[in-house]
Amino acid sequence: MKRFRLFRTKSIAQMRETAADSGMAKTLGAFDLILLGIGCVIGTGIFVLTGVAAARYAGPAVTISFILSGCACALAGLAYAEFSSIVPASGSAYTYTYASLGEFIAFIVGWNLILEYTVTASAVASGWSGYVVGLLQSAGIEVSHALTHVPADGGIINIPAIFITLLLSIFLIRGTQGSSKLNRILVFIKLAAIFIFLFLAAPHVDTANWDPFMPFGFAGIAGGAAIVFFAYIGFDAVATTAEECKNPAHDLPIGIIGSLVICTALYVVVAGVLTGVVPYTELNNPEPVAFALRYIGYRLGSAIVGVGAIAGITTVLLVLLYGQARIFFAMSRDGMVPARVCKIHKRYHTPYIVTVLGAAFVSLIAGFAPIGLIAEMANIGTLSAFLVAAIGVMVLRLSKPHLQRSFRCPAVWIIAPLAVLACGYLMYNLPLDTWIRFFVWCAVGLLVYFGYSYQHSTLGREEAQVMRRFKLRKFRHIQKK
Ligand code: ALA
Repeated sequence: MKRFRLFRTKSIAQMRETAADSGMAKTLGAFDLILLGIGCVIGTGIFVLTGVAAARYAGPAVTISFILSGCACALAGLAYAEFSSIVPASGSAYTYTYASLGEFIAFIVGWNLILEYTVTASAVASGWSGYVVGLLQSAGIEVSHALTHVPADGGIINIPAIFITLLLSIFLIRGTQGSSKLNRILVFIKLAAIFIFLFLAAPHVDTANWDPFMPFGFAGIAGGAAIVFFAYIGFDAVATTAEECKNPAHDLPIGIIGSLVICTALYVVVAGVLTGVVPYTELNNPEPVAFALRYIGYRLGSAIVGVGAIAGITTVLLVLLYGQARIFFAMSRDGMVPARVCKIHKRYHTPYIVTVLGAAFVSLIAGFAPIGLIAEMANIGTLSAFLVAAIGVMVLRLSKPHLQRSFRCPAVWIIAPLAVLACGYLMYNLPLDTWIRFFVWCAVGLLVYFGYSYQHSTLGREEAQVMRRFKLRKFRHIQKK
């Protein structure tokens, strides 16, 4: 009878070896990683969602929502940091889970990370398109509605969203070093836009706008936290770069926690100023930050911040496409998806086939699908991966206590359970239809796992080989007798 080995775990020593000779160029340092984190994290969330969350969920207390979400990420981030310093291999939570909770759960985590990155990237590409179209229109340039909107919004295809996805994918294929330089420039433009906003708007804060501070009570703050969690999506992308880091054990924890702390501080300040300048009831619009500046009479400042927002959203898309390709890469290398797709480009040393495949999926969704329907999926996919990673770090502490850990999660028996609770609580606050779509996606994942991945798993094949050799030896031994 066939025996299922769903919880077979990868050997950490073997993962370290694979990572050492993956063929990828090792060019990234701690500073690059912090910028990479900021590059991915600050984008659509702060430039668009802050307003929506304030108007519909939390009111001025959206600042508290950001702190709650930031704390959940910091807790999960510490678990991530410990894992990433043990297992310096591409694939983030997927890889870490494979080493701790076993193949089946790792597959589900990887499957959800693919969902997270693909859906988020699609939403961000659409957001980019919206901002660019808006800016062109305000400069008096006519753009075709049919070619800039998806069918559900009365168009045919969203060409700008497809254009930016394909353009950034070409950058990524040409090399991490080059895209890291581009990312640096765009991150500085984005930060400049935020500081210009703060500089212009802060003197106009009217504390009367903060009253009432919690118009929807604590439930509103929690709902707001589940929504603005989107603004933090991507900080885990830093953990997917281990194979391209100069010194992953030292640089990764700095990159993850550093970018998270900077982003949370900026979010809270921006959200506070935004709700102090404009009454929260008026913030439900697609460009609240630019709107706030117009509201207090800075038209030019508003346009400049709009351009900065486009730069910001571009960096987010860049890092998401990057992370998506690395997770795909890690899964295909393990035989979870066809191995041919993880080929490394001879000249550029990047996994080009997975990058192209990922870009194709993102383009398809961003070009044709009504993004509003699927955007919340990003949050649930990410939170589930964080939750499992936090469990994984505890399992690994128990099952492999003597493993070398260059970064140890402080007070792990408090931090990790709190991370599980915090992520679970944010998931609980997401709408029911998001949960239903999430289960459907997981069900499709199960079909893929049992229909393909289980049979093709590299680890499974290695184990089968060992078993065959073992049986043969036993058979010969019996024959001799
Ligand atoms: N955190 C990313 C953003 O806010 C996804 O755009």
